[in-house]
Amino acid sequence: MRISPYNHGPGALLMDYQKLIRTRRSIRGYRPDPIPEDVLGRVLDAARIAPTAANRQPFQLLVVTEAATRARLKEVYDREWFWAAPAVIVGCAEEAKAWQRADGFNAAEVDLSIVMDHLILAATDEGLGTCWICHFDEARLKQILGIPGNVRVIALTPLGYPAAEPRPFQRKPLEELVRREHW
Ligand SMILES: Cc1cc2nc3c(=O)[nH]c(=O)nc-3n(C[C@H](O)[C@H](O)[C@H](O)COP(=O)(O)O)c2cc1C
Repeated sequence: MRISPYNHGPGALLMDYQKLIRTRRSIRGYRPDPIPEDVLGRVLDAARIAPTAANRQPFQLLVVTEAATRARLKEVYDREWFWAAPAVIVGCAEEAKAWQRADGFNAAEVDLSIVMDHLILAATDEGLGTCWICHFDEARLKQILGIPGNVRVIALTPLGYPAAEPRPFQRKPLEELVRREHW
């Protein structure tokens, strides 16, 4: 038996990590082709194994593929490239189930962000496009999908094979973002 902290089961190593993180970009245009179930399964399983504070795993991922439901998501974020993508992943978290620090800090949002990042990078590895979306109407989305009041929707992403180039790449230089030893 192989004993390794990195032996989490099946899933081919398709892309080197440095290549993967530089390949992932926000995609705002998708082909209508459905995502094969085995590919979707690997992407969701990458999200499942993400770390969460105190290993609480206080999240739920909703996968929306039905065309009629996706069309209603227009009311939530009115961009055709979002709701017309073959799948939309809805990242939810339950604060009541998340780890909480004594000073009140609740890790639900951090947990869900890590989960979504795992999912998005695994999708990239499979040749799928994604785009983080936080600019959405949470109340309307919860109504449409029947999400309970105590559950927070933190982020969404469309999922599908890319049909558009990403916007030009722009980042601050490292010197503007990193300090050494003290502020
Ligand atoms: C937390 C978060 C929320 C975002 N929300 C939106 C959004 O609502 N709509 C959108 O078009 N892009 C959204 N983006 C995508 C960012 O604009 C994008 O990641 C950034 O411009 C860098 O470009 P890149 O992802 O192509 O590298 C979001 C990104 C993050 C991380």
